Amino acid sequence: MLKVENLSASYGGGEAVRGVSLSVEPGQIVGIVGESGSGKSTLLSCIMGLLGDRGRILGGDILFEGRSLLSMGREERRQMRGKELAMVFQDPELSFDPLWTIGKTLYESIRVHGPVTKKEARKRGISLLSSLELKDPEMLLDSYPSQLSGGMCQRAAIAAAIVCGPRLLLADEPTSALDVTVQKQVIDTMMGLRERLGTAILIVSHNMGVIARMADMVGVMKDGELVEWGEKKQVLYSPSHEYTKALIAAVPRMDGRLPHGGFYG
Ligand SMILES: Nc1ncnc2c1ncn2[C@@H]1O[C@H](COP(=O)(O)OP(=O)(O)OP(=O)(O)O)[C@@H](O)[C@H]1O
Ligand SMILES: [Mg+2]
Repeated sequence: MLKVENLSASYGGGEAVRGVSLSVEPGQIVGIVGESGSGKSTLLSCIMGLLGDRGRILGGDILFEGRSLLSMGREERRQMRGKELAMVFQDPELSFDPLWTIGKTLYESIRVHGPVTKKEARKRGISLLSSLELKDPEMLLDSYPSQLSGGMCQRAAIAAAIVCGPRLLLADEPTSALDVTVQKQVIDTMMGLRERLGTAILIVSHNMGVIARMADMVGVMKDGELVEWGEKKQVLYSPSHEYTKALIAAVPRMDGRLPHGGFYG
């Protein structure tokens, strides 16, 4: 479904992403881990086509269902957003126009891909927000992003990303602002999306528990490079790269279940 081939990107200085190759199969969940500044967000931004003014792709290609995203026109890419490809940004406020309520954001996202009444959109929004453990979805739909707490904003951003049932979801630290109990619900919602619609997910997280619970394949980034890639079992439980070993050894063992048992709760 997604094939990243020898991709390199930079913001003007050194390469933030260096010769990264990986693939995501339909319905597969791929987890990316790695220290701060290793290029995880840059990789996702390249795929989403939102690298910003300073960012440049230096080489390589990104294929989505066989078509190069890098040689597509702006309009064609825009059409793909939401329904084919959607992204939850590390900074959830980036997912919103500050002048729009959450409800309007959801409505406009749905409307791009076909006719929908405001009432219908509202119904879908309420059910989605409830599934993400958001208590007062009615009120939330009428709120502006600046009125929400970090955790609420993050969940609203997830709702906005998945409301059109994307084929591939890019999720950059989608659970980082959340309490552990809410984390579980958010993970379940994303997993449910895969179950119901076969959505593939490329998720970046510093939380090894989240990766252990969700991912089929795991990639480890360091200094812009993908230094390790393989099935979750192999990468988490018998890593070959020294860096991966160090990363796993650093996971707090509050529950004693990683690296042998998986999830933290
Ligand atoms: N908009 C930007 N302009 C200039 N440099 C950037 C920009 N975004 C990221 N960088 C640089 O590119 C490199 C990779 O950053 P990136 O944000 O992709 O790392 P990351 O793995 O997502 O880190 P974190 O875990 O902290 O989110 C870093 O050196 C960072 O300073
Ligand atoms: Mg990042």
